[in-house]
Amino acid sequence: MASHLELLITAERIAAKTEELGVRIRSDYGDRQIILVGILKGSFIFLADLARAMGGDVEIDFAQTSSYASGKSSSGIVQIRKDLDINIEGKHVVIVEDIVDTGTTLNHLRELWSTRRPKTLKVCSLLLKPAASKVKIPIEYVGFEIPNEFVVGYGLDHGERYRNLPYIAILREG
Ligand code: PRP
Repeated sequence: MASHLELLITAERIAAKTEELGVRIRSDYGDRQIILVGILKGSFIFLADLARAMGGDVEIDFAQTSSYASGKSSSGIVQIRKDLDINIEGKHVVIVEDIVDTGTTLNHLRELWSTRRPKTLKVCSLLLKPAASKVKIPIEYVGFEIPNEFVVGYGLDHGERYRNLPYIAILREG
């Protein structure tokens, strides 16, 4: 079936919000070191922009989970494909996500990484879909709340496509 894109958030709005979040996070942590953990693959563009907006002492790591296979709905099972390289004990950690949908991924990661005794463990997600939430979890930094639609762009994909769009769009079938 043919599909088309409907613009939801422009590149300019994303840039302004990312700058705002970066400045806010840096001011919350002062001159402390922050470990930014991007969840692959979707977070790679947001993390790159957020890290530069924050400035200061930042270490960067990545982890990869998978719960979506190649389709558009979550399987509800979180698999860790790549865990952290950095030892987070005693560190200030901020998990960076492109989107929190059902909350399943973050719930799992928060539980897993809390056991490693970081000093603080917070989450920054560019997008949040409140209507899709199944697991209530704290998300300290949110860019935009969006409707319960399938979105692509700025890191988010459908079957690995569209991650390179500089804006966020709703993917509509037909
Ligand atoms: C997406 C997104 C989050 C997760 C959110 O990743 O990047 O990690 O789904 O969904 P949830 O709140 O329902 O758990 P995905 O598994 O699609 O992998 P990708 O980032 O490589 O596209």
